[in-house]
Amino acid sequence: MANVPQAKYRKDYQRPTHTITDINLTFHLDASVTQVTAVSSVKQQGDDNTLVLDGDNLVLKSVTVNGAEWEHYQESEGHLILTKLPDVFELSIVTTIDPLNNTALEGLYISDGAFCTQCEAEGFRRITYYLDRPDVLARFITTIIADKTRYPYLLSNGNMVEKGQTDDGKHWVTWKDPHPKPAYLFALVAGDFDVLRDQFTTRSGRDVALEIFVDKGNLERSHHAMVSLKNAMKWDEERFGLEYDLDIYMIVAVDFFNMGAMENKGLNVFNSKYVLANDQTATDSDYLGIESVIGHEYFHNWTGNRVTCRDWFQLSLKEGLTVFRDQEFSSDLGSRVVNRIHNVRIIRGPQFAEDASPMSHPIRPEKVIEMNNFYTLTVYEKGSEVIRMIHTLLGEENFQKGMRLYFERHDGTAATCEDFVSAMEDASGVDLAHFRHWYSQSGTPVLDVEGTYNDVEKTYTLKVKQQTNPTVDQPEKCALHIPLDVELYAPDGTIIPLQCNGKKIANVLNIKESEQVFVFDNVESKPVPSLLREFSAPVRLNFSYTDDELSFLIVNATNDFARWDAGQMLLAKHIRSNISRVEKGQDVIWPESIITAFKGVLTNDSLEAAFIAEMLTLPGLSEVFGWYEQIDIDYIDTVLTSLKKTLASELKEAFAQCYQALFLPEYTTDHGSIGKRALKNVCLLYLAYTEDGDALVNEQYRTSNNMTDTIAAMTAANHAELPCREPLMESYSEHWKHDGLVMDKWFILQGSSPSESALSVVKQCMNHDAFSMKNPNRIRSLIGSFMNQNPSQFHKKDGSGYRFALDILKQLNVSNPQVAARLIDPLLKFKHYDVARQELIRSVLEELHTMQGLAKDLYEKVSKALES
Ligand code: TRP
Ligand code: ZN
Repeated sequence: MANVPQAKYRKDYQRPTHTITDINLTFHLDASVTQVTAVSSVKQQGDDNTLVLDGDNLVLKSVTVNGAEWEHYQESEGHLILTKLPDVFELSIVTTIDPLNNTALEGLYISDGAFCTQCEAEGFRRITYYLDRPDVLARFITTIIADKTRYPYLLSNGNMVEKGQTDDGKHWVTWKDPHPKPAYLFALVAGDFDVLRDQFTTRSGRDVALEIFVDKGNLERSHHAMVSLKNAMKWDEERFGLEYDLDIYMIVAVDFFNMGAMENKGLNVFNSKYVLANDQTATDSDYLGIESVIGHEYFHNWTGNRVTCRDWFQLSLKEGLTVFRDQEFSSDLGSRVVNRIHNVRIIRGPQFAEDASPMSHPIRPEKVIEMNNFYTLTVYEKGSEVIRMIHTLLGEENFQKGMRLYFERHDGTAATCEDFVSAMEDASGVDLAHFRHWYSQSGTPVLDVEGTYNDVEKTYTLKVKQQTNPTVDQPEKCALHIPLDVELYAPDGTIIPLQCNGKKIANVLNIKESEQVFVFDNVESKPVPSLLREFSAPVRLNFSYTDDELSFLIVNATNDFARWDAGQMLLAKHIRSNISRVEKGQDVIWPESIITAFKGVLTNDSLEAAFIAEMLTLPGLSEVFGWYEQIDIDYIDTVLTSLKKTLASELKEAFAQCYQALFLPEYTTDHGSIGKRALKNVCLLYLAYTEDGDALVNEQYRTSNNMTDTIAAMTAANHAELPCREPLMESYSEHWKHDGLVMDKWFILQGSSPSESALSVVKQCMNHDAFSMKNPNRIRSLIGSFMNQNPSQFHKKDGSGYRFALDILKQLNVSNPQVAARLIDPLLKFKHYDVARQELIRSVLEELHTMQGLAKDLYEKVSKALES
């Protein structure tokens, strides 16, 4: 690379040299030459009269200061440098940009003929020269001028204040946002849409207009999003005491979007995947995903917008907290235990994997080259776990006191993670000094716990050791403050109250040192401990349970999460031991304990269906990969498939009975029905491996009246490679080939097909009418699923999967580097694979590394991987 991209460090933060209090933007929209006029009120903050503005891909037309042309400026790579400026001035900058050729989908671009913007993290600099950093908060006034017939709706943040016509068939609208905001929250949308309108009255009695804009013809798919929005508004008032603060809340669904959705003030822009749903096009998990993302973006209005981030290193301040809030929203509306299980699967699978990869970073990173690379599972999901631990340590009441103090202190400003923790600490009186290391330390702590019972003293001793392995970014680790939620059970299943020195103690133990011992007294017989209940900290737990103890917990633990976790530990134990048997060339053996435990769960009428479905779902691939330093992809695949087949044949009758009993005549998305379908379809997944599999799957597909059951049938056919797979795939694509969003589910099945022809099918699919290399959803569905969910085919020993990936990455490096950088993740962990695969992947990474014009996004990841 000619110029090596430079990293920024958290420690180098400096206040901006100038503030911008107000900005007046005027857009003359045109597909390939849009003119942007930005008039800003600027004030110098210190004694530096040079102003360095950010800009990217802009054509500069003019610069004036206080109305007069300004000559003292210089354009350099990424910046406009203005010198000899007065203290206070009005700066006017005219630039032009080219939305039509903006395939990176950052800044102003065109999605299906409509203009839209994406400014987080640093996209506003692709619209005009500006102080594009989150600690510069300005009041925005935005005027949009465009052709009236093609762009009847002209939208921006805040309230509409004026509109009119021009002589040449154009119209214009002016929007005013009263809340000062950083540029990353700016949004503009112009196009023709169908609009779903509704209304919400806040608890203080203010009326808010709600509008959801979707592509023409999609109105009937937008109702669930509207219901979710109203639920979110109500929930935030009830649980957090937070009300909406503008007269209008708009959501626009677009097909071309790099991420899930964006919380722009008063004008959210959403990936259409998280808005559009009806029973024919969306699955139950799509419905739940929409509820959670609609909630997430809405909750950002307070945690993100009213209080924003001082700098991008503080991203988890808004994301970790907002994920925590959206998880609580979903849990309060639906099943708490099922939501917890889903979240924990993500932490134990892909987040732990990220912690162990070359991209390992603390939830508050120290060093960043490309900010887009840090919208990660660590910042979001582990960040939420850190907030959850604070919640556990403080309790709901003190936590809410902390939230109120946080808003009292920081509303309308740009804050830091430290500000948040201080508010929690000051409001509750709980000392979080040691706890703060969770913000600065990367990697996954390991807890090794041993239990010993003393029959004479009637005591039970837990010895807890913690240790965090060095990570690529951070060789030295310290002991963290880990809340460890514990319960002890007597052999008859009753709870043994926790006592130390005769005094009752709380269930949450505070682990702060590398080794700690807890002695519980008045324990009449040898107990079974339930450890890390509710997954009280994002750590790996080791405790050598016997099969009997785990089976006991599956039945007796008072808490559903703990029962599920015991089931997962039982599975993990035997998956591991079978992987080492296969390594030694021995046969796979599955013990009776697993079969009995699963049968018990499957036939237990008192359990919620959704919960049984989770109990019967094996740990994911990335979770199993994460148990090993050195991964043997082939052995893991062999063992997991063998386990599925064994459960299928041993429990065939029970699965079949359960399956038959769960048919629902009508499709409704209440949580009870969602749970029943989930269980029925888990049964089908196993039954697919029995001799009746093909007939059952085929029958379900033919008679299905909803997308959940349809996709479940196709998934079962795909994984078990049933004869009906081809006809079903054919029938589906015939029906849905005109709808990209619905075809994504089909592309995922093609990408994750275990068939030997998977790669050549993926290549053919790239010519499908519904596929486009310009659409991130399509790329992620087809190519992302191949690279992440298809270990046997992507990691083929002939290297064909890797060469294909290289080709795709080279293309995306030019058209959409942000998407390229997400796609490359499975290659970064190459050191964990066998030597032959390591070498194949290394050569791919090296070829990218030496490539001319490698974008920062890929450069950062590739160079870290090669240095590791
Ligand atoms: N702030 C968004 C969210 O979490 C994330 C986001 C949407 C984003 N689009 C983006 C981040 C583009 C980086 C780039 O809700
Ligand atoms: Zn967010």
